[in-house]
Amino acid sequence: MAEMHVWPRRDLRLTDGVLAAALFAASAGQWHGPAATRLPLVAVSALLAATVLPRRRYPAAAFAAGTVIAAAQIAFGLQPGGAAPSAYALQPTTTDLVILVLLATLAAYGPRRISVAGLVVCLAGCVAAIMRWAPAHQPSPGPSLFAAALGLAGLTLAAWVLGDSVAYRYRRAYYASLEERAARLEAERNAQAQLAAAAERARELQERRARAVEDSAARLRRIERDLHDGAQVRLTALAMALGEIKENLGAAGGGADPTADDAARTRMLVAAAHQNAKDTLAELRDLARGIHPPVLDRGLGAALSMLSETSAIPVGLDVSIPERPSPAIEAIAYFCAAELLANVAKHGAASRATISVIEQDGRLLMNVTDDGGGGARLVPGGGLAGLLERVQTVDGSLRADSPPGGPTVIAIELPGHA
Ligand SMILES: Nc1ncnc2c1ncn2[C@@H]1O[C@H](COP(=O)(O)OP(=O)(O)O)[C@@H](O)[C@H]1O
Ligand SMILES: [Mg+2]
Repeated sequence: MAEMHVWPRRDLRLTDGVLAAALFAASAGQWHGPAATRLPLVAVSALLAATVLPRRRYPAAAFAAGTVIAAAQIAFGLQPGGAAPSAYALQPTTTDLVILVLLATLAAYGPRRISVAGLVVCLAGCVAAIMRWAPAHQPSPGPSLFAAALGLAGLTLAAWVLGDSVAYRYRRAYYASLEERAARLEAERNAQAQLAAAAERARELQERRARAVEDSAARLRRIERDLHDGAQVRLTALAMALGEIKENLGAAGGGADPTADDAARTRMLVAAAHQNAKDTLAELRDLARGIHPPVLDRGLGAALSMLSETSAIPVGLDVSIPERPSPAIEAIAYFCAAELLANVAKHGAASRATISVIEQDGRLLMNVTDDGGGGARLVPGGGLAGLLERVQTVDGSLRADSPPGGPTVIAIELPGHA
């Protein structure tokens, strides 16, 4: 296929020029007589040879032109009985081989329907030519007539078959190029689909990052509010109580005997201050645990085990992870388990819950199940929705399977490392 396509058009034109010249020159030996009769014959030969030049661009037109000239030659250039032709200029010459070239070209470049019609026209032309030529060669037309018919028809057929085989090769090359193009288009489409998928993924990640940033900002605000409304208020009360105690003690040290009333009031203030200090401590501990439970430092298994022990309902725990996930993943898994156990206690009406954590292909799979009445669903702004957002920030997933009547299975998948 390659050579046919790389052969420059310029070379094809040169080839046809040489071919036309050769076909024209082939009949030189047949140009006899005075100039008046010879020149028209030379002109017809030149005209016939010239039809070779546009044959590739206009195969049908070139063939039609050649055929018209050949038909005129058969009609006027051949005389039955061998008499002198009515038009000497139109007598057939060797240049008529042009017709074979044109037929082959038609078969190579034209549609097959047309090239077959061309073949029929040529064969009919052969028959007509022989019928007009034969009577001139009496009385023994037998073998020579047969040989001439066979020769002409054979040559015509050979030219057509030659052209058609070229067409076949062209078509094959064409189909191959079509297939190649289709494959290229397919590859381009695939690449575009991949690009689109990558863009979609980038958008998704951007959204998740925004949610993660929002999530941590909200958490900071909550901690600030808890400190402000809780520990800070209590510490203020503590400072005030201590101030009053100090004043009372100062007054007592000033000389006057403390009355029983004053002593009782001071004791009450000390007791309140003590209680406030203990409450503040407990609150700060809870707050710290909400930020990062210290037990997580001993691993996810230990943290979940502590969570299970303090749960309101019995919890079966099964943790089998050969390697510790990164701290961020452990924290997310822990907070998920805490929220899910709280849900079980709050909504599930369950008698039992189980937590199982396994590692699979480097990912952490945690299932929290309960035998309650089912009906867990993600509601906007709810705890479950918050968990989903949190696991999505690290490319994890959360699925809730909780048909009416139970049981409830919440499956969480997290990467081993964030
Ligand atoms: N383990 C469970 N069993 C039954 N229902 C549940 C369970 N967990 C959650 N649900 C239901 O799904 C809803 C959404 O849960 P969640 O998002 O955690 O919100 P909430 O703040 O109410 O706990 C709950 O209101 C509850 O009706
Ligand atoms: Mg909840």
